[in-house]
Amino acid sequence: EWAEKGAAKIVKEVTDPKTGEKTKKIIKKGIKDFKFGEMLGDGAYSTVMLATSIDSKKQYAVKVLNKEYLIKQKKVKYVNIEKNALQRINNSKMIVKLFFTFQDESSLYFLLEYCPNGDFLSLMKKYGSLNETVACYYSAQVIDAIDYLHTNGIIHRDIKPENILLDKEFKIKLTDFGTAKILDSSTNNKFDLLTRSKSFVGTAEYVAPELLNDSFVDYRCDVWAFGCILYQMIAGKPPFKATNEYLTFQKVMKVQYAFTAGFPLIIRDLVKKILVKDLNQRPSISQIEKHHFFREKNFQNGSVWSDPVPE
Ligand code: ADE
Repeated sequence: EWAEKGAAKIVKEVTDPKTGEKTKKIIKKGIKDFKFGEMLGDGAYSTVMLATSIDSKKQYAVKVLNKEYLIKQKKVKYVNIEKNALQRINNSKMIVKLFFTFQDESSLYFLLEYCPNGDFLSLMKKYGSLNETVACYYSAQVIDAIDYLHTNGIIHRDIKPENILLDKEFKIKLTDFGTAKILDSSTNNKFDLLTRSKSFVGTAEYVAPELLNDSFVDYRCDVWAFGCILYQMIAGKPPFKATNEYLTFQKVMKVQYAFTAGFPLIIRDLVKKILVKDLNQRPSISQIEKHHFFREKNFQNGSVWSDPVPE
């Protein structure tokens, strides 16, 4: 169920100046408490804008969803999925933090952590192609973040460069959980949980072939998307790209892609291993992390999140 009107509850401890008595006061945050700024992003069902808290001056990214449009397009379900997924994993530095949700007559609002360095697609476009060191720096964080999601019973299903944000330290944060699959917390067997999904397909360029052929999905579709993004970091474009969605799907189903000239052999080897149709041949995240490409990365001690940004 969606939050009550204006319901972003903040519990503040207040001290009575006369008696010194401490009480907890519930303050409801609403849209009136924020000043809206520049537009940060634009999706099919939402707009993201910069928002500044009037009293704390703290900056947020506010995702605004039009209620009438959501209802008409039958997307209300996805808004709730996004909220539930974000709340399940709300204490991780790898995931964009959800601070408050509220609504007014026309819209639903998600007050999210603001990532001042934009998204990973813009970063790749800016550089055209990343070198091996930079690709290793970002891809290590992306695969570790996906691992974290899976460990917490969440399949993202739409991992793509636009959904990878960069915080002030150029550390990545995953966002956009509207198409996530939240697995039952009572079962933690991510191997056997194949979820039938009748109509769901993520973004054409990053969609795994099993989604197109069998329309079932398990956590390994996120691993496929990771392979596509790793390829893109070097090639400057996703591996499966055609003039329209249909032709892109054809390429995905045939796993038809080619490496660009000068593509580093070590990354070529890893991408080749990941972009395989047979789910049982596709490497697990722990196998990917053991690949020679990540030989200088330590995924056990969390250092991929404290490594300095390469020059
Ligand atoms: N674009 C979409 N979400 C964003 C966020 N949380 N921070 C910055 N830009 C964004």
